[in-house]
Amino acid sequence: MGIAYLKEQRLFKLDTPGTTYLMGLADREGFLGHVYYGRKLEDVKGAEELMRTVEGPFTPEKNNRDRSSFLDCFPWEYSSHGVGDFRESSVRVKDGNGCSAVLLTYLSHEIYKGKRPLEGLPATFGGEGEAETLEILCEDKSLGLRAVLSYSVFGDTDVIARSVRFENVGGGELYLEKAMSFCMDMDNPGFDVLTLHGSWARERHMERKPLGHGKFSVSTLRGETSHQEHCFMALLSPGADQDKGEVYGFQLVYSGNFLMQAEVNQFDSVRVTAGIHPEDFSWRLGPGESFQTPEGILTYSGEGLGGMTSSLHKLYRKHLIRSPYLHRKRPILINNWEATYFDFNEQKLLDIARESAALGIEMLVMDDGWFGNRYDDNRALGDWKVNEEKLKGGLGKLVEQVNALGLKFGIWFEPEMISGESELYRQHPDWALAVPGRTPTLARNQYVLDISRKEVRDSIMEQVFAVLHSANIEYVKWDMNRPLTDLGSAALPAERQGELYHRYVLGMYEMQERLITEFPNLLLENCSGGGGRFDPGMLYYSPQIWCSDDTDAIERLAIQESTAMIYPLSAMGAHVSVCPNHTVGRNTPFETRGFVALAGTFGYELDITKLSAEDREMVPRQTAMYHRFHDLVREGDYYRISSYQENHAFDCFQVNGPDGKEALVFYTQVLNEPNRRSRIVRLKGLEKDARYRVQVVSMEDDELLKDTGREFSGQVLMYGGLRLERLWGDFRSQILCLRRVEP
Ligand code: DGJ
Repeated sequence: MGIAYLKEQRLFKLDTPGTTYLMGLADREGFLGHVYYGRKLEDVKGAEELMRTVEGPFTPEKNNRDRSSFLDCFPWEYSSHGVGDFRESSVRVKDGNGCSAVLLTYLSHEIYKGKRPLEGLPATFGGEGEAETLEILCEDKSLGLRAVLSYSVFGDTDVIARSVRFENVGGGELYLEKAMSFCMDMDNPGFDVLTLHGSWARERHMERKPLGHGKFSVSTLRGETSHQEHCFMALLSPGADQDKGEVYGFQLVYSGNFLMQAEVNQFDSVRVTAGIHPEDFSWRLGPGESFQTPEGILTYSGEGLGGMTSSLHKLYRKHLIRSPYLHRKRPILINNWEATYFDFNEQKLLDIARESAALGIEMLVMDDGWFGNRYDDNRALGDWKVNEEKLKGGLGKLVEQVNALGLKFGIWFEPEMISGESELYRQHPDWALAVPGRTPTLARNQYVLDISRKEVRDSIMEQVFAVLHSANIEYVKWDMNRPLTDLGSAALPAERQGELYHRYVLGMYEMQERLITEFPNLLLENCSGGGGRFDPGMLYYSPQIWCSDDTDAIERLAIQESTAMIYPLSAMGAHVSVCPNHTVGRNTPFETRGFVALAGTFGYELDITKLSAEDREMVPRQTAMYHRFHDLVREGDYYRISSYQENHAFDCFQVNGPDGKEALVFYTQVLNEPNRRSRIVRLKGLEKDARYRVQVVSMEDDELLKDTGREFSGQVLMYGGLRLERLWGDFRSQILCLRRVEP
C-alpha cells in the first residue's frame, strides 16, 4: 500500500496490495486526468501517455482553438459541466446568475497516513498503519468553489475509497445540483455490465449484458437503496467469469437515492459515475459552507468476480462494520413474525420461548405488533409504548420471564414511520413528510416521518431509549417499510426543500449512531421490508441486515448468492421458516432450510410449538450445527463454485475456515432429474499439497459429522474436482465438511 506524487511525470500513484491507480496532471491549467487502474505496476515510466495528450485534440496549452474537443475526450478524474465535455457530468452548481457551469482544476494536494471520517456519513475507516489517503484540492475560480477529491487505499485489500468535499470559498450563494462521489474514465474493451435487480421478496437477482453505446444506469428515487436496484455495478472484460478476466466493481456507502451510470461515448471509452441521484437534489452552499458526498468504493480484480468478492468482503469486515458482534457469535434467534404476525400475547410468546429454550435456541425476538394499539398494520407507528392488553404485566415482566427460560430478548421498531391513526400523528400532523396542499400518498397505510428535523428525531429516540432502558433487551430489529414520497418538510425554507432526501438519510444515520452509542452492546439488525436497504451504509451501524422477506430456501439461493457476491455471509440475516412457505407456497425439506440459513446469521421464524415431531427433532441438531460452524462461516473465506442463477439446476459454494483446517461445501440440488450422473465441482482456495478427509453434515441423529471414508489431495479437489452425489428428491441440500489431514 502506498501513495506517491511522481513530480517529474506529474502523476499520482496509488498502490493497493495487488492494484495500481494512476492520475495525471495534463497541462498547466491543472486538468486532472485518469491514467490507469488495474493490475499492480511497479515501473510506471511513460504511463502518462495513456491519457493520449500527445495526440489531437491537443490540450488547450498546445492548441486552445479546439478546447471543446479536448474537454470532450480527455479522461477526467472528475468531469465538468457545461463547458465542453458533453459526457456525463460529475457536478453541477447553480451560481447567483442562475448559470450552472463548473470546471474544477488542480490547486494542491496532501498525502497522509490513515483515513479521516466523513462528517455525518458512514464510511470505511483505517488507522495510520492500515490506510493512506490522498486529498487533491481543486478549484473553479470563477464560481468560488473548491472541491477536495479524496482517495484512500488500504494495506490489506484491493479497494480505493473515494469521496468529494465541496466548499464555497466565494462571497455569494451557490446551489449544488449534482455532486457525484466519483467519476472514472477508461477505454472499453467490450465490457459486460453486471447489476442486481429485483423487487420485494425477490431482491438482488443478477443481470449481465453487453455494455453498448449510450448510458446505462441503475438508480433509485425511493429514498432508500431499494429492493429494485442495488447500489452496485461491475464491468467485466470479455469472457470474464468467477475465476478469470478483469472486473471493475463499484459501490456506494449510502442508503438513499443513488445513480450509478456507465456511459460509452463516441470514442468507445467508458465513463462510470456514481453518487446521490441528482433528481430532486439541490444543496444550498452559503459562503464558507461545505458539503460532503457519500463515499464510493472502487475495486479491480484480475481474477474474475471471485477476486472482487474477496476484496469487498475484506473491506467490509475490516474497514466498515464496527459492531462488537462482527467477530462474535450471534445468538440463534427465533422471531415471531411468520409465527404469529400481529396476533400474539405474552402467553403465546412465552410458549414459543419455552419450546425454543428446550431445543437450543438462544434469543426470542418480538416483532411488529407489541406497541400502542397495533393490532394490524393500519395504526400506531410512532406510539412506542407497550400494549399491555397484549403483554399483560408489561415488557419488563415478559423479558424477565424469557430471560428466566435462558433466552435473550430482542425487539422490533420502525422508528422512521408514523401511522395516520396514532397519538403521535394526532399531536404532530406536520411531522409527516408532506407537500403543502397535497394529501400525502399512503404506503402500507403509513406516512414517513420527517426525520430531517431534530425535534422529530429527539422525540422518537427518547421513546425508543425509554423502551430499551425498561428491560434487558439485547437486540433491536430496525425496520423501514415504505419508500419516501411527498418530499416536503414543514421545517425547511423553499430554497432548501431539495435537500430533504439527503437530510432524511443523514437524520436516519444520526438516529442509528445515537442508538449504538447509547447501547454499545446491542446487536442491531437493519431491515427494510426484507432487504430493501441492504447496503454498505447500513453495515456501518449494524453487523447484519435482514436479507429478504422471502424465507423460502430455494428463492434464497439466488438472493443469498448475489448478496454474498458483495457482502460477507455474517451480514446476511437468514432464518428457517415453515412450509408451505408463506411467500411462495413451496414445500422444501426442513433439513434444506437449515442448511441454507446456515450461510447467513442463522435463526428461526416459525411457530415452534406447532412443528411436526420430525422437524422438532431436527432443531437441536441444526442448532448444534450452528454452534459447531458459526465461526467458520462468519470468519471464513467465501468462494462461489457454481451459480444456480446461471445453471438453473443447482447451487454450490464453499467457505474455507481462517486457519485452513476445515472447509465447508454447501450444495443444493433444486429439481432432481432421472438418469443423471453425479456432479463434479472444482473446489477453491485449498492447500494444493494437503490432504482433506470428507465428512458429511448429518441431521439424521445426534452424530453431526459422518465420515465418508473419502480422502483427497487439495490438487485433486481443485484441479480435478469433488464428486457430488445426486440427492433423492427435489430441493435437497447437503453440506460437506473437508478436514485437512494433519501429517
Ligand atoms: C417487514 C420485515 O421484513 C418483516 O420481517 C417484519 O418485521 C415486518 N416488516 C413487520 O411489519
